[in-house]
Amino acid sequence: MEGQLSINTESCIKCGKCARICPSLIITQEEKGSPVKVQNVENCIACGHCVAVCPTGSVLHSEFPAEKVHPFKYSDYPTPEQMMLVCKARRSNRAFSKQPIPQEALKQIIEAAHRAPTASNMQQVYFTLVTDPEQLDAITRFTLDVFNSAAKKLKNPILKLVLKKIMPDAYRYLPVFDRLNREYAKGNDMILRGATAALFIHTPKSSRFGSADANLAYQNGSLMAECLGVNQFYMGFVCTAIHQENKDTLANMLGINGTIHAAMALGMPAFRFSNYIDKKDTVETDL
Ligand SMILES: Cc1cc2nc3c(=O)[nH]c(=O)nc-3n(C[C@H](O)[C@H](O)[C@H](O)COP(=O)(O)O)c2cc1C
Repeated sequence: MEGQLSINTESCIKCGKCARICPSLIITQEEKGSPVKVQNVENCIACGHCVAVCPTGSVLHSEFPAEKVHPFKYSDYPTPEQMMLVCKARRSNRAFSKQPIPQEALKQIIEAAHRAPTASNMQQVYFTLVTDPEQLDAITRFTLDVFNSAAKKLKNPILKLVLKKIMPDAYRYLPVFDRLNREYAKGNDMILRGATAALFIHTPKSSRFGSADANLAYQNGSLMAECLGVNQFYMGFVCTAIHQENKDTLANMLGINGTIHAAMALGMPAFRFSNYIDKKDTVETDL
């Protein structure tokens, strides 16, 4: 970090919480009750823990002026039961109505996604929202085009001799590709399923943890969507096509400079669910 970090020694009560919480060991306290010291500020990742934890507002950090610091109460959190209910009842609901998603809801979904943790607090996760029906259709056509050229290779009698051996799993998708095309020809988009918005989550190409960062952002956003009554599902087909094509065609089409790691189809629900169902019992724990 290039900014500044200091301690207001007049108001500091030397509780040492900032020293204990700092992930980069920039703030130190030799022993309980002794003065808090700041060193090697250039290693600060600007996570803001020191400012957020200080009970007296004595940590002065140039990245976090007063207007960026917000007191809150843990008692305002959803209860564990409410949180668990959201986790249990959340669904990939693909039954969309044509009603547009309120702008405010889209903003909240993106803000929740943006709040997710990022490796080394890089905060280099970016969001591109597509709501134009023509662009949405172009996303589906891009996906089908990539699948169709893959299918063409898989069906080629000469290539098939080799490909069947080295990638037998790919052949399972041939009937799926055929079905996607047939449905699209009938006006039934099985890729976007009538979603009225698509949110692409991307990072710079150089990002080391880009995929993890983007997918954590996705999950924050999807839980927010669930609470707002907005449908979402993960656009796995589209992400597969992007990965398979490996030429940035879709990113360029959408004006994205970077790597798309996750994509969320969004829309208002045609209807919602009455029940939640249990998942497979695969959690191994002694608890
Ligand atoms: C990585 C990933 C890719 C997915 N791709 C698609 C997709 O392309 N189309 C779709 O309709 N659902 C997709 N889904 C949604 C899954 O099918 C869904 O999460 C799963 O069936 C469980 O249902 P639930 O999310 O309602 O619990 C994807 C989910 C994940 C995590």
